[in-house]
Amino acid sequence: MEFDENRFKVIDHPLVQHKLSILRDKNTVTKDFRQLVTELAMLEGYEAMRDFPLEDCVVETPLETATFKRVAGKKVAIIPILRAGLGMVDGILALVPSARVGHVGMYRDPETHEPVQYYCKFPPSIEDRTCLIVDPMLATGGSLIAAIKYLRDAGAKDVRALTIVSSPEGVKAVLDYDPNVRLYTCALDRELNDAAYILPGLGDAGDRIYGTL
Ligand code: URA
Repeated sequence: MEFDENRFKVIDHPLVQHKLSILRDKNTVTKDFRQLVTELAMLEGYEAMRDFPLEDCVVETPLETATFKRVAGKKVAIIPILRAGLGMVDGILALVPSARVGHVGMYRDPETHEPVQYYCKFPPSIEDRTCLIVDPMLATGGSLIAAIKYLRDAGAKDVRALTIVSSPEGVKAVLDYDPNVRLYTCALDRELNDAAYILPGLGDAGDRIYGTL
């Protein structure tokens, strides 16, 4: 499947590929898994904010006064999809410590695989913010599409989604649903199985982050 490269980007930096291979390993323990999710989110966040506009700023170095650049007042909201998305928040906060954090709580109905919302709270002025939805696994796309819908309904204009592993079916569903969303992932895997798990994938990301297997 081919996707619009202006809206979909696989972050295939060697460090990302290396860390992701360890993440996928069934023998990787909870502590390492959690740390790797944080590191991958940071590397991915760096890429997802590459186009942030800059403005001039005057700085007095110890030697002289000169003009440099700073990010031009971009306000960021990180929106983790509970619960696995929480594992990606700290990595992005390390890059943008002043970011606000909203939450969308959803679980997958085990029968229908459809998302069911149980919590949703966004920071104020959502329309002025770059909204980074984070969720490690993009499987069917149902939860991510629901989160995008809640954000759009709340007035968000700049919506970007960051996942770690994605299925082709999920990427297609999300890009088809919202023509303006931008999607970043660390890997585009082969397919979904009958239980909507990604193959080869890494298993249940939430269970592996929180050690609830
Ligand atoms: N959610 C997960 O945690 N893993 C998958 O493979 C699919 C959805």
